[in-house]
Amino acid sequence: WRLHAPLIHAINQLKRERNAVILAHNYMTPDIFHGVGDYVGDSLGLAREAARTDAAVIVQAGVHFMAETSKILSPDKRVLIPDLKAGCSLASSITAADVRLMRERYPGLPVVTYVNTSAEVKAETDICCTSANAVQVVEHAAREWGVDRVLLIPDEFLARNVARQTSVGIIAWRGRCEVHEQFTAEDIREIREAHPGAEILAHPECPAEVIAEADFAGSTAAMNDYVLTRKPRQVVLITECSMADNVAADAVETEFLRPCNLCPHMKRITLENIHQALLEDRYEVTVDPAVALRARDAVQRMIDLPP
Ligand code: 13P
Ligand code: SF4
Repeated sequence: WRLHAPLIHAINQLKRERNAVILAHNYMTPDIFHGVGDYVGDSLGLAREAARTDAAVIVQAGVHFMAETSKILSPDKRVLIPDLKAGCSLASSITAADVRLMRERYPGLPVVTYVNTSAEVKAETDICCTSANAVQVVEHAAREWGVDRVLLIPDEFLARNVARQTSVGIIAWRGRCEVHEQFTAEDIREIREAHPGAEILAHPECPAEVIAEADFAGSTAAMNDYVLTRKPRQVVLITECSMADNVAADAVETEFLRPCNLCPHMKRITLENIHQALLEDRYEVTVDPAVALRARDAVQRMIDLPP
C-alpha cells in the first residue's frame, strides 16, 4: 500500500483542510485501512467513534448502513460515502413494513436489530446490536421487557449463533450475508486436515455448522484482538479477505492462511473515490430527521450498555 503514497498524502492533506475524519471498517483494503483511516474497527467501534468525533465531516470508508448510523448519531455533521452503491445483502433483506408485520405477529416482544440495516428499519426497532454484543443485547432486552423471547433480525445465521449461547428464545428473520453464507463446514474440515496446527476464527454471520467447527467466533474487532494478543503461529480468518491483510501488517509472527471471500460492496470504496469524496464534497448521506430521531434511540440504547 505504500505505492499509493502520493494519493494517501493528498487525502490526508484534504482531511486537515476540511476538518474531516475517515472512519474505516476492518474490511477496507490495506491502503485505506493503514494509509488514511483515522479510526479503524468493527461496526460497534465505528458507531461509537461517529458519536464522539468533533470533526465537521465524516467520510465513511465502509458500506451505506454504516454511513447512515454515523448520520443518525451525528446529525449535525456532514457524512460522506465515496460510493452510494456500497450496500449490504443483510440491509436489503428487510424493510420497515416487514418489521411492523413481525411486531403484529409477536406483540409485546422486543425487536433487537443488527446494525446492518437501513435507518427506516432501525426506526422500528427497540435496541440495536452488532456481532460484538448481540448476546449481551438480547439478554438485556429480555430482562428489560420481562420476556423470555425476543426478535433478533435480520441475520438468520447470527440469530442461530446467538441462540446457542443464551437461554433467551430467539425469533429470527431470513436475511443472510452474501459473503459469509458461502463458507461451509467442509471448508473448515479441509483446512484442519491440511493445517492441523492452524487456529480457525470465524465471523458470527457464518452458518452455525461453520461456527461449530471453528476455534473462536467473534466480530472483526474480536478476531483482530485474538490474533494480536494470542499470536497464533498459523491462523485462518473465515471472513472477508481484507481482514487478514490488515491484521497481517501488525502480526508479523503469524502466518495467515486462506480461504476468504470478498465483499463486493465494501470493495466499491477505493483510495481514488475517497479522494474524490473529499475534493468534491460527495456523496452526502442524509436521513429523514423524524426517522433519524427514532433510529437514534435504538442505536443509543446499544451504545449506552456497559462495554
Ligand atoms: P463487524 O461488526 O464484526 O465489523 O461486522 C460488520 C460486517 O459487515 C460483517 O460482515
Ligand atoms: Fe453486508 Fe456481508 Fe458485506 Fe458485511 S460482508 S457489508 S454483512 S454483505
